[in-house]
Amino acid sequence: MTRHVTVVPASTKAGRETIRRLLVDDSKPTVRGIYRDPAKAPTEFTSHPNFEVATGDVGTPGKLDFAGTDAVFYIPPPTYDDGTPQAVWAERSAGNVKNALQGSPNVKRLLLFSAIGANHDKGVGILCLNHISEKALEHAVPDVRVIRPGYFYTELLSQLQWPEGETPVLNTWISPAEHQIPMVSLEDIAEACAHNLLSEGANPKSPYIFNMFGPRFYSALDLKAAIEEATGHQVELQTADRDELPGYFAGLGIPAQHAQELVDMLLAGLPGGTIVQDFNYGENTVTGQVELVDGVRDFLKKRTGASWAQ
Ligand SMILES: NC(=O)c1ccc[n+]([C@@H]2O[C@H](COP(=O)([O-])OP(=O)(O)OC[C@H]3O[C@@H](n4cnc5c(N)ncnc54)[C@H](OP(=O)(O)O)[C@@H]3O)[C@@H](O)[C@H]2O)c1
Repeated sequence: MTRHVTVVPASTKAGRETIRRLLVDDSKPTVRGIYRDPAKAPTEFTSHPNFEVATGDVGTPGKLDFAGTDAVFYIPPPTYDDGTPQAVWAERSAGNVKNALQGSPNVKRLLLFSAIGANHDKGVGILCLNHISEKALEHAVPDVRVIRPGYFYTELLSQLQWPEGETPVLNTWISPAEHQIPMVSLEDIAEACAHNLLSEGANPKSPYIFNMFGPRFYSALDLKAAIEEATGHQVELQTADRDELPGYFAGLGIPAQHAQELVDMLLAGLPGGTIVQDFNYGENTVTGQVELVDGVRDFLKKRTGASWAQ
């Protein structure tokens, strides 16, 4: 049975949710969270007797401590540094993780966080990060598992604007509004990740690769309907045209070259895009339980600000 799990980087969304899930598991594993800045470890973790905080940066060689751990959960973080191509960053960071794994023979299992579409070596924009990480790490330890989730509910809902007293507006890149894509809750992701980190026995197939989707595919119209059902308010839906997408990311302060990588990833999931052929519930798909409307309720509950406390 896995007794000690290391999560790197622990400040990622998938890392944070999985640590939360691991710390309530009946098997009581010890969890090490690796942060660039350990002060960012939340008190709910640092106050837990089974949690250890460590300092480390996947971009720096020799800075990852996997001593005494049985299983490592690696979530490749994207870089938005101007000048570093995503592919160069992906090779460098995965190489640092691989060297740390190979210097720690105690690590028997690696769970690699990837993304739907990471099987393609081109035409997927920023997901080259995940494709390259998969290739670099597929044989790094005896038991490698790769989770390829769909789009996070929280990410798609983050563009919901609701000024007090006005109609809520949802901006979305999903166009046409009827186009359905695989979405999933972080709760379901954390459940699947915890299971794959803690389950007994090595998987006979390594690397073992699986998709992780919510209970069904959803469209922009489904997002609108779910928000309306959860809040009782009519929502205005604004779908971005393809040529408006670069501006969408520039507005978030992301450098132009990385904004283009993000745009290319989004286009890959729209009709005619590279990833659409992968939108299938197949034999290697884990199906989550959390419906979109419940994901919306959870999102609104966690979002700060009085106007969100519906
Ligand atoms: N978002 C989605 O919908 C989605 C869906 C499927 C798959 N994914 C995959 O999930 C992964 C994470 O993507 P994300 O955009 O959602 O990011 P994220 O989880 O928000 O993680 C980004 C965080 O990683 C940490 N980090 C960055 N560089 C680091 C470094 N060199 N060393 C250690 N920590 C570092 C930073 O935290 P600090 O600043 O606190 O250090 C940063 O805030 C990607 O591989 C992506 O393809 C995402």
